[in-house]
Amino acid sequence: MNFKGGKDLYVMDIFNRVSSRYDLMNTIMSWGLDKTWRRIAAISCSFSEGSSLALDLCSGTGMLALELARVMNFRGKVLGLDFSRSMLEIAINRVRGSNLDGIIEFIEGDALNLPLPSNMFDCVTIAFCLRNVISIRRLLEESVRVAKPGGRVIVLDLSKPRSIVLYQLYNIYLRLVVPLIGWLITGHMDPYAYLPDSLREFPVRESLSKIMREEGLSNVKFIELTLGTVAIHIGVKPIQK
Ligand SMILES: C[S@@+](CC[C@H](N)C(=O)[O-])C[C@H]1O[C@@H](n2cnc3c(N)ncnc32)[C@H](O)[C@@H]1O
Repeated sequence: MNFKGGKDLYVMDIFNRVSSRYDLMNTIMSWGLDKTWRRIAAISCSFSEGSSLALDLCSGTGMLALELARVMNFRGKVLGLDFSRSMLEIAINRVRGSNLDGIIEFIEGDALNLPLPSNMFDCVTIAFCLRNVISIRRLLEESVRVAKPGGRVIVLDLSKPRSIVLYQLYNIYLRLVVPLIGWLITGHMDPYAYLPDSLREFPVRESLSKIMREEGLSNVKFIELTLGTVAIHIGVKPIQK
C-alpha cells in the first residue's frame, strides 16, 4: 500500500490498537444499535433475487459484510476490504469454519486505491469510514468506479442531529463520555477522543448528498436514524456511465 499522508498511518495504527475490543466498544457506545444500523444499510442495497456481489469497504471486523451476506440470504458473495491487518484478522476468524466460509472473503488493501476492476459490484458499502480518510471524494470516486452501472453505493456514518440542543448534548457525549468508556474498555483514550473532531468537519445530509452526486451518483437520498445522530446515504451509479 502506498500512502500519501500521515493521517492514513495514524488511522491504521488506531484500529490496529483497538481491534480486539472494537466490537464491544461499538455496542456500548451505540447502546446496542450499531447492528440495526448496519442491517438497514445492508437492506438499502436492495439486492435482486438472484446472486449478487457486494463490496464492503473499510470492512473492519466484518460486521457489515456479515449483514450483507444475511440480507442476500447467503446466495451472493461479499468481499470485505480494509487496510488494518488486526481488524481483518478478527473478521477472518469470525467467518472461518462458519457457514459463511466461501460467501464472505476479506482482502487487505487501501480503499482509496482499490486493487479491483471497474463495474464489478451490485452494491458497495462504506460504514463509519468516510470521516477517517484523507479524501472523501477519492473514496467515493473509487466506490463508483467499482460499482456496476445500476449498482448502489451506500454510506453509513455518524451525522449531526438537526436540533442544536441535541447536537450539543451529542457533542458532550462524544467528547467526554465516549473517550472515558474507550479508555476503560480498550485502555486507550485517544482513538475515541478524535470522534467529535472528525464529525465537526464532516459533510452531512444535503452536503454529503451533493458530493455523492458530484462523484457520479444519481438518485441520491438519505435516511436519518436515532434522532439524526447517524445517517445512511444511498446513491445509484447511472446505467450510461
Ligand atoms: C470505524 S471502522 C469501521 C469498520 C466497519 N465498517 C464497521 O462498520 O464497524 C473504520 C475502518 O476503516 C478502515 N480504514 C480507514 N481508512 C482506510 C483505507 N484508506 N483503506 C482501507 N481501510 C481503511 C480502518 O482500518 C477501520 O477498520
